[in-house]
Amino acid sequence: MAVIIDGKALAKKMQKAIAEEVSQLQTQYGRPPGLAVLMVGDNPASAAYVRNKETACHKAGITSFGKHFPASVTQTELEQVIDELNADDRVDGILIQLPLPENLDAIALLNRLDPDKDADGLHPNNLGKLARGEVGLRSCTPAGVMELLAESKIDIAGKNAVVIGRSILVGKPVALMLLEENATVTIAHSRTKNLAEITRKADILIAAIGRPEFVTAEMVKPNAVVIDVGINRITDYEGKSRLVGDVDYASVSEVASHITPVPGGVGPMTVTMLLHNTVWSYKEKVKSKK
Ligand SMILES: NC(=O)c1ccc[n+]([C@@H]2O[C@H](COP(=O)([O-])OP(=O)(O)OC[C@H]3O[C@@H](n4cnc5c(N)ncnc54)[C@H](OP(=O)(O)O)[C@@H]3O)[C@@H](O)[C@H]2O)c1
Repeated sequence: MAVIIDGKALAKKMQKAIAEEVSQLQTQYGRPPGLAVLMVGDNPASAAYVRNKETACHKAGITSFGKHFPASVTQTELEQVIDELNADDRVDGILIQLPLPENLDAIALLNRLDPDKDADGLHPNNLGKLARGEVGLRSCTPAGVMELLAESKIDIAGKNAVVIGRSILVGKPVALMLLEENATVTIAHSRTKNLAEITRKADILIAAIGRPEFVTAEMVKPNAVVIDVGINRITDYEGKSRLVGDVDYASVSEVASHITPVPGGVGPMTVTMLLHNTVWSYKEKVKSKK
């Protein structure tokens, strides 16, 4: 049976360290770091993620400037809010909870963020820095995946890493981060042919697909490290609703050397890296004012 990579435990440890650092920063500079999470509409999954983020902020001593808008909010209204938050010295990080309703232009809103406050690292400046291997704000979920690999002491250099999924939010940035750590990286997607043949060559397999239990044991090389980014709500045969990942945990955990569970794997790390990024932006700001 695979070793379980415990994201909940690592998140707890890192959030404790962040809370201690926040307390020192507050004493030293006279104000806490601040994060604004912008949420539009009433998608229940997004609302739950936003609640988790705000609770984690509160516990870490980070001030929350969260704003919740009805689905009828306009692009112009959101642009004004972003401009105000960009100019507000109490706010160090801004996160736009995705997905947004289809009538809104998410890319234009992400582009409007002050890149120094771009808590999810999705502004072109920050994605560009990642592509160039420069220091900058890194996307929370992919950065969380890298923390999990590091904590589990997984050797990445020279390994074959396969990422299933090529979104800007997860697939592409995690592939770049693995490349930065000297893995040989393959990115697969919905048009990939012979997917199982490719995934069976992976020493490290990252699933970021959005399809419940898509990756089965036959697709996994024995002793591979499997990181499941997916979060999918399904109704099981007893009519009960539950969360599952993109990996068929029951079968894959018998083949893999390490595996992340869902829930309790990558999810808690996403929230943790958001706090980390907010504190990082705060420190960059106070350093630049010295
Ligand atoms: N744990 C967390 O904190 C966290 C954070 C973010 C997202 N997630 C979860 O991670 C999953 C992926 O999120 P996302 O935002 O990256 O989703 P997304 O934007 O929908 O991207 C999904 C990717 O999977 C690929 N794909 C779809 N069907 C496929 C198939 N049959 N074979 C191979 N590739 C296929 C798509 O290929 P094409 O590009 O060709 O369409 C696309 O690149 C979702 O379950 C989401 O809920 C979790």
